[in-house]
Amino acid sequence: MLTIDPKSTPTRDLHQFLLGAVAPRPIAFASTIDENGVANIAPYSFFNAFSSNPPIVVFSSNRRVSDNTTKDTLYNIQTNKEVVINVVNYSIVRQMAVASIQFDKAVSEFSKSGLTPLASELIEPPRIKESPVQMECRVTEIITLGDQGGAGHLIVCHVLRMHIDENVVDNGRINPHKIDLVGRMGRSYYTRASGDAIFTLFQPVTKISIGFDSLPASVRNSHVLTGNDLGTLAGLEALPTEAEINSASKDKRVQELMAECGDDKVALQTRLHHYAKAMIKSGQTAKAAGILMLAV
Ligand SMILES: Cc1cc2nc3c(=O)[nH]c(=O)nc-3n(C[C@H](O)[C@H](O)[C@H](O)COP(=O)(O)O)c2cc1C
Repeated sequence: MLTIDPKSTPTRDLHQFLLGAVAPRPIAFASTIDENGVANIAPYSFFNAFSSNPPIVVFSSNRRVSDNTTKDTLYNIQTNKEVVINVVNYSIVRQMAVASIQFDKAVSEFSKSGLTPLASELIEPPRIKESPVQMECRVTEIITLGDQGGAGHLIVCHVLRMHIDENVVDNGRINPHKIDLVGRMGRSYYTRASGDAIFTLFQPVTKISIGFDSLPASVRNSHVLTGNDLGTLAGLEALPTEAEINSASKDKRVQELMAECGDDKVALQTRLHHYAKAMIKSGQTAKAAGILMLAV
């Protein structure tokens, strides 16, 4: 393992280690307005939602590592405590990149990026029309984390109103494939959260599961089953009953494997583990557990 001591690591390197490790990060496309009415937009990936009641999202505007200067978004928010957090999806990612350029404060990134300002309902800064979700926010707190290059300012935003494009909603919920969000990773890497990048993982959390430590040692120490396979088995509510184990022993493929392996218990265990692994992959976890119990 590479061991990093932040105290003896240059900020530029530490920054990239943090960005590479804490990833992918959602992107807040923040719109603010200055005292002359110039609208500013800029992306911020030190961002997340932290509370639903009250609805709070937080992002961080950092001092530049290169010259320790602060950013226009922070200045505008310090002035009027208002911001719209617009989310970034794949269709606006290139325009978002243009908005991240260090234009002069008097220049609006709306005109530079070609994105469209849309009047907000409760606050002065406009929303970004092309963004599929726009959150009008009042800033309740700005927490300064330091005074050197790289130091963040946590901007705590109370969401006053959300606007959601109906085209990304199915049955009252945002469909991840339709919203097609983009996440920031380290260096210039991004991720697109749709298609194969999305998977579902169901784990009931109120019903207590058996846990990894209840699995037989032969299963826990399997050379075939992965940590994810064992995690799936550990999420079962109960170990298989005698009846379930008995039923597993009558499975056609299990009978074939038993016949093929004869007295070779090690070979049988390995092949049953491979068979159970395929079952887990196809979602038949309880059946897989029954098969595994045949070779403990
Ligand atoms: C995808 C992306 C994410 C970014 N995230 C942050 C961030 O979390 N914090 C930050 O200070 N700058 C971040 N930046 C850099 C700012 O967007 C950039 O410094 C911008 O010029 C600031 O604009 P402003 O001065 O108008 O606020 C990010 C840039 C990109 C492209």
